[in-house]
Amino acid sequence: MSIKLKSVGKTYQLGQTTVHALRDATLEIAQGEFVALVGPSGSGKSTMLQLMGALDQPSSGEVWVDDQPVNQMSDHELAKIRRNRIGFIFQSFNLIPVLSVFGNVELPLVLQRVPRQERHDRVYAMLERVGLTERALHKTEELSGGQRQRVAIARALVTNPTIVLSDEPTANLDSKTGEEILALMQRLNEEQHVTLLFATHDAKIVKHAKRVVSILDGRINNDQLTAGA
Ligand SMILES: Nc1ncnc2c1ncn2[C@@H]1O[C@H](COP(=O)(O)OP(=O)(O)O)[C@@H](O)[C@H]1O
Ligand SMILES: [Mg+2]
Repeated sequence: MSIKLKSVGKTYQLGQTTVHALRDATLEIAQGEFVALVGPSGSGKSTMLQLMGALDQPSSGEVWVDDQPVNQMSDHELAKIRRNRIGFIFQSFNLIPVLSVFGNVELPLVLQRVPRQERHDRVYAMLERVGLTERALHKTEELSGGQRQRVAIARALVTNPTIVLSDEPTANLDSKTGEEILALMQRLNEEQHVTLLFATHDAKIVKHAKRVVSILDGRINNDQLTAGA
């Protein structure tokens, strides 16, 4: 699955002020890439991830998913793409506090109508990979920041998405856990050609990425538009 931004602008209205979160952003992420999106706080990284995941509409320009403009897709089509093909790891995790770790990771599979036994097996396999088997039946509000981060990662990966969009995925992890998660993601990229786009400050991620795109004040650095090796 490829995602393209074509001259995308995004503004937010804050009272009288117009905030230009993205300006004339043109970028293509091809299937199988591993891209780090770097830039200081407020530069537009989260905005860009939301637009690339079709969670929000641009103010100008177009977002394309697989040679089809998102603004021409029906809500049903978009919901299907988000449910089946895109894994999101949000900065704020967006976990459901009243559900257990198991319940949070299981949820996307429930939405996909995966049968119960298969859900159980896939959730536990995923929890093992992120080192949370022992916490499966705990509520997420009982977990540390790093553990919640791992739940969010497990929930994003359990559906075997074709692309994972991730907002600062290692920000709350200790360096050992961060390395393990990064190794897991890298394996998914290399073995299953899962496309990875990470907004990050983490030098380790930047080092592993095959391409680095930098963004400043809503503008993508145009020297880095072409796909790297
Ligand atoms: N919902 C919103 N309403 C108003 N301004 C916003 C909103 N979301 C982001 N912004 C503004 O847009 C700019 C880019 O924000 P963001 O995409 O979150 O940057 P980053 O993720 O790089 O920190 C910032 O100036 C931010 O304050
Ligand atoms: Mg952000």
